[in-house]
Amino acid sequence: MRIVISEFMDEGAVARLAARHDTVYDAGLVDRPEDLRRRLAAADALIVRNRTQVNADLLAAAPRLRVVGRLGVGLDNIDTDACGARRVAVIPATGANARAVAEYVICAAMLLLRGAYASAADVANGGWPRAALSGGREIGGKTLGVVGFGSIGRLVARLGGALGMRVVGFDTQIAATDPAWKDEGVEPASLDALLAGAEVVTLHVPLCDATRHLIDAGRLAQMKRGAVLINTARGGVVDEAALAAALGSGHLGGAALDVFEREPLPAASPLAGCPNLLLTPHVAGITLESNARVSALVAEGVEAVLGGAHAAG
Ligand SMILES: NC(=O)c1ccc[n+]([C@@H]2O[C@H](COP(=O)([O-])OP(=O)(O)OC[C@H]3O[C@@H](n4cnc5c(N)ncnc54)[C@H](O)[C@@H]3O)[C@@H](O)[C@H]2O)c1
Repeated sequence: MRIVISEFMDEGAVARLAARHDTVYDAGLVDRPEDLRRRLAAADALIVRNRTQVNADLLAAAPRLRVVGRLGVGLDNIDTDACGARRVAVIPATGANARAVAEYVICAAMLLLRGAYASAADVANGGWPRAALSGGREIGGKTLGVVGFGSIGRLVARLGGALGMRVVGFDTQIAATDPAWKDEGVEPASLDALLAGAEVVTLHVPLCDATRHLIDAGRLAQMKRGAVLINTARGGVVDEAALAAALGSGHLGGAALDVFEREPLPAASPLAGCPNLLLTPHVAGITLESNARVSALVAEGVEAVLGGAHAAG
């Protein structure tokens, strides 16, 4: 079987695949679309992260394709309808990077609330901004608002609870009577109530029509003065210009963004220069440990489909 891998993958998992299959691993293929299409002509499987756009057009270049492995969980770069129509299975790494994202969220919340960690250059140069940095806040006793109570949202809730936070959650697909809320010690709430009551709001919903700009100027205005917002879900869930305005006016106390409407950010993003803003390049789900877990899980799932296809002739 031929497997094409178009973005970076854990080397150990690639080696295991290469030992059993004709495997093309080139993490730069995603940036060379014509090369990728050429490689796909004879491919039975394609493994991607979040940058390769798997749409009907790309599938047309891959007539033998049986399975797409996704090294992550969001499927917004994969046209699942087009895959379904072609009977191409889609294998995401469900749950395998949840721990990495959840730890990122808790760390960002603590950094933003405390606001004291950006002083290295000043202190090393003899500065002593002690008075300016004495207004930091503790995470214990604060209210954590979790928007989207799926695998990552639940783990964030558990970690927040362990630090002494009160946790409220909002999820359109999970009834208030569902035992999952109680199991995790989380109070179900409306989005309005969550935004009005939380000092830390963290987003864990998929990007779809219902969640595009879910957090817009109106929603940001509903948040408590001084509250912080963390988005590790998908860029389109937050209106970036509205967020920049809310930070600039001092209504929000800070924000951490790992995902953006356009990645990389365009020049002159309204986010440039905003106070107490942490920006990372879509790495919340990527650690050494999660990369190994995600890659192993996807490799296993892809091989299971190929094995089944093989057995079926
Ligand atoms: N930054 C990263 O590196 C990174 C890594 C992993 C996942 N993600 C993103 O994190 C998000 C969550 O991932 P997950 O694995 O927890 O997904 P999940 O499917 O387990 O959970 C998503 C939850 O959102 C809920 N939901 C759907 N629509 C909603 C709406 N309109 N309002 C409120 N809730 C809604 C669903 O019911 C579900 O419980 C996804 O967007 C994913 O793409 C980012």
